[in-house]
Amino acid sequence: MTAFAIILGIGVFCSICSKGAGAEVVLETKNKTLKELREAIYAKIDELPTIPAVVAKVLALIEDEKTDAQALTRVISHDPSLTAKVLKVANSAYYGFPQTISGLDRAVALLGMNMVQSLALSIGVLGNLPKSKGPLNFSSQGLWLHSLAVATAMDELKKYCAKARGSDYLFVVGLLHDVGKIVLLHFFLEEYEKALSQLENENGSTLYLAERAAIGFDHGQVGAMLLDRWKFPREVIMPIAVHHHSKVPESANPRDTAMLKVADQIANLAGIGHGDEKAPPKIAESDFQILCLDKDDLAKVQASIIDSKESIESFFSSMSLA
Ligand SMILES: [Fe+2]
Ligand SMILES: [Fe+2]
Repeated sequence: MTAFAIILGIGVFCSICSKGAGAEVVLETKNKTLKELREAIYAKIDELPTIPAVVAKVLALIEDEKTDAQALTRVISHDPSLTAKVLKVANSAYYGFPQTISGLDRAVALLGMNMVQSLALSIGVLGNLPKSKGPLNFSSQGLWLHSLAVATAMDELKKYCAKARGSDYLFVVGLLHDVGKIVLLHFFLEEYEKALSQLENENGSTLYLAERAAIGFDHGQVGAMLLDRWKFPREVIMPIAVHHHSKVPESANPRDTAMLKVADQIANLAGIGHGDEKAPPKIAESDFQILCLDKDDLAKVQASIIDSKESIESFFSSMSLA
């Protein structure tokens, strides 16, 4: 069993059920085993359109160590719609370049190859997701604004400690960390409404626990299943899979996961968009230590995220997702 499968099986089981280890034990709420629930979620994910060819090609470039900026711009430029969207975001107030960026090669020169790759992946995935359906007190705009604030906070955190540099794809991790909510809303609306109403009724409950009780998995695990199906690299999938786990397995890079958890909390405290409906637990001391951060650093990053609110909104509107 792979580390990822363990996280989606026994790891989840142990965190929501106290009857001992074993993925085959029945969940009372659904009368289904975790294996059956996982298969049901994967079957639903398979109903979604396949990932756009251009995104698959950008992902393939990550595996290719010989990839260079020319190869990246060649792949993206074959998709005029994605090219236009990447350039629109690169020209948004979020990056604040004084001159217009009119070509992908210029975007790579100014933003870096990694950021252009991250933008292409994020925009490609977000454009491929189903529109959420309601009637719920859920706003997809709020979700993406929150996610952009998390991605921005992760970028900002890197400045405070060399050890917090993290992987090359932290921006994608931040932007897609709550993507599982879209899958749950689209395919498990009834169960999700149950999770949300449980959250409203129970003081001290958290969304991820309510999701596990109603659906068997939390949105981090479901988002990881989606990205696994779409063949994203492990360094993107793993922190997302465990971002609501109190114990992070070694297989999920503890530094990247700590960055995601801290950035998630910063975005919640900054009040940009909608994160989890109730405040998540306070940042663990161990996460501060992993990232070499102190409380002052945290306050500075939070202040800078609050200052970035307008530019985050401009990034969002240039992605035309609303
Ligand atoms: Fe989350
Ligand atoms: Fe979040």
